[in-house]
Amino acid sequence: MIIPFSPPRIDEKIIAEVTEALRSGWITTGPRTKKLEQKVAEYVGVPKVVCLNSASAGLELVLRWYGVSEGDEVIVPAYTYCATANVVVHCGATPVMVDVNPDFNINVENIRKAITPKTKVVIPVDFAGFPCDYDEINHLVQEQEIQKMFHPHTDEQKMLGRILILSDAAHSVGATYKGKRTGALCDITVFSFHAVKNLTTAEGGAICLNLPEPFNHDEIYKTLCIKSLHGQNKDALAKTQLGNWRYDVTEAGFKCNMTDILAAIGLIELERYDDDMLEKRKAIFDAYSKAFSAYDCFEIPVYETEDKTSSYHVYPLRIKGITEEQRDLLMQKIFEQEVTVNVHFIPLPLLSVYKNRGYNIDQYPVAYDNYSREISLPVYYDLTDEQLQRVIDSVISLKNFINP
Ligand SMILES: Cc1ncc(COP(=O)(O)O)c(C=O)c1O
Repeated sequence: MIIPFSPPRIDEKIIAEVTEALRSGWITTGPRTKKLEQKVAEYVGVPKVVCLNSASAGLELVLRWYGVSEGDEVIVPAYTYCATANVVVHCGATPVMVDVNPDFNINVENIRKAITPKTKVVIPVDFAGFPCDYDEINHLVQEQEIQKMFHPHTDEQKMLGRILILSDAAHSVGATYKGKRTGALCDITVFSFHAVKNLTTAEGGAICLNLPEPFNHDEIYKTLCIKSLHGQNKDALAKTQLGNWRYDVTEAGFKCNMTDILAAIGLIELERYDDDMLEKRKAIFDAYSKAFSAYDCFEIPVYETEDKTSSYHVYPLRIKGITEEQRDLLMQKIFEQEVTVNVHFIPLPLLSVYKNRGYNIDQYPVAYDNYSREISLPVYYDLTDEQLQRVIDSVISLKNFINP
């Protein structure tokens, strides 16, 4: 039996809640979506959350809300999924890629070097669920010299008066940094509820608003909801209220709202997220680390420090001293044992779309080193002890193919 990489947990509780949503007669954005927004806001500890159909949509809506456009620059790590940079391109702005740390996350000194008067946003990515250095990043954009360099164009940019920190926390729901959960660690954070994510709604995402005074979160919430629905000033539910049919469209917006069918899955998953899902994932991480730390050839990922705990999303094992080609061969040896593994991620400068725009991997040596030696192992709720042992055995068998 093939061990998959990360199937979702679909059990009777989820099926019952989705069925209930279907039977309720209201299947698009409605009471369940609003409840999920409220529950995520409470869980994270932020004033307002907007649920959407993906994290990609969330990142793009925020960039557009902040007025990012042609001529602007947005700093992103070179080591991330393409969505982080693609949304910047959609806005007509330039993704400025910077190299990462050996822990896979964006390097703060590299952010500093990349800041110019055109920089409007920095998007740190909590790779594999491990939070970035938020204190350092937040302090950096508030430094006087950096703030003086900022050229605001829109009302929102003038109100903030500095570079916006927009966290791509697609992987890190439930991770913590200095006792606070992701979502509450910087100005705005976006989660992904995609099918392979820890907390899934099949497809989905959420924007967590945590802006400083004098931003009005209720107003921004309304603005983002309107942007997610073609710029229409009333959603479908509001329009069904007796006599409330007339609407206006205030801008050529997008169509990326969450549905109540998807929110039903999220509500069940969130309820049991910390005590059940995160516990299970942590146990898998710990079992991997315990097994592999007995061998010198394996580099164990850092997923817990004094200040940080991961959401245990991806277990990024690295093999010491191997090339990219050797890594691919080792993955093949694992596949042959019917274990599905993966690589997170191919750095952006290696992808055709960005190579063709002139990005060059030689400028991102740490990203390349991380990538070339990385193999992501299966982590999912239903992974049994027997399957876990099979994954461990398949990885340990690699030592026969690795030259000391
Ligand atoms: C780091 C990162 N950012 C953003 C996304 C986009 O998430 P979504 O599929 O919900 O748009 C992903 C998806 O895998 C991701 O890994």
